[in-house]
Amino acid sequence: MKKLAIASDHAGFELKESIIAYLHDKGVELEDFGPENNDRVDYPDYGISIAQAIREKKVDRGIVICGTGVGMSIVVNRFPGIRGTLCSDLYTTKMCREHNDSNILIMGGRVIGKGLAEEIVTMWLDTPFEGGRHQKRLDKIKELDRKLETKGDL
Ligand code: RB5
Repeated sequence: MKKLAIASDHAGFELKESIIAYLHDKGVELEDFGPENNDRVDYPDYGISIAQAIREKKVDRGIVICGTGVGMSIVVNRFPGIRGTLCSDLYTTKMCREHNDSNILIMGGRVIGKGLAEEIVTMWLDTPFEGGRHQKRLDKIKELDRKLETKGDL
């Protein structure tokens, strides 16, 4: 089983807690990167910690939740090698694993309900990357990351 981590801001806290309980019941282990309560915090701090943990190979994949999922999307996708995907439906969730090899699932705690979020998490965890023609496209993104990292520009 791959190592999984989860984090949120205050707006995603309630959904984070319910996803942790849901996965715990299913026997899926995951590391909670916080926060510990719903006191107001800044989503970049929590998005950054998950993205860095993946880049440092401390965990394989992550789930991040803020109010809309937009703030977390902006933050995690700044990191080379991170493929964060904002999901609020099952089709996008399936495709983002099969085609994009999503390594961070992003959800909006003020957008979707607990039941749908649980289905999204399960599909995201269980759907494998298809590879093939999609790998070629990911290689192009990797090459773009490399150019941006070395030159700071295109
Ligand atoms: C917090 O109020 C909210 O701005 C945040 O959770 C997120 O939705 C930002 O994109």
